[in-house]
Amino acid sequence: MAIQPIIRLGDPRLAEVASEVSQFNSPELDRLIEDMFDTMAAEDGAGLAAPQIGIGLRVVIFGFDTNPRYPDSSAVPRTILINPHITTLSDETEDGWEGCLSVPGMRGVVSRYKHIRYQGCDASGAPIDVEASGFHARVVQHECDHLDGIIYTQRLTDPSKLGFTEELLASGRLTSDICSE
Ligand code: NI
Repeated sequence: MAIQPIIRLGDPRLAEVASEVSQFNSPELDRLIEDMFDTMAAEDGAGLAAPQIGIGLRVVIFGFDTNPRYPDSSAVPRTILINPHITTLSDETEDGWEGCLSVPGMRGVVSRYKHIRYQGCDASGAPIDVEASGFHARVVQHECDHLDGIIYTQRLTDPSKLGFTEELLASGRLTSDICSE
């Protein structure tokens, strides 16, 4: 296990555009991905991007079966996605609460595309090409934003729809602790 510290909003590394991965099947890449899964598991997260542990490479991971933090969400397949590219499959968007391990304890409402296609590579360089909708699509959009230095707080549909999870739950504005990360 190599759980890494997660850097938080305000750290300039989170605002940088990450670099493409050019070398696959390398011990360094495998170690990075292992560390990311260990770190995500330790935080009960649904996804994690390499820049969140201070590594400026275009690598994201996501996926979970059942998670007490997302009781209303269906499972998302465990995925390693490198050098991702997202295509929107319709103009349809939906609002949903998101959180981020780099902004601990908070949730905000973000509008995301409902139907997307994502392409990229796995750790061996094999191509990935998947269509996703709903929560799955939201997680992918959230994680890929990290690779361009974008945090969900920059995408709030309404700045008043940002708050601490405990207060949002206590006031009933957030009915279950669902978030993208
Ligand atoms: Ni995040």
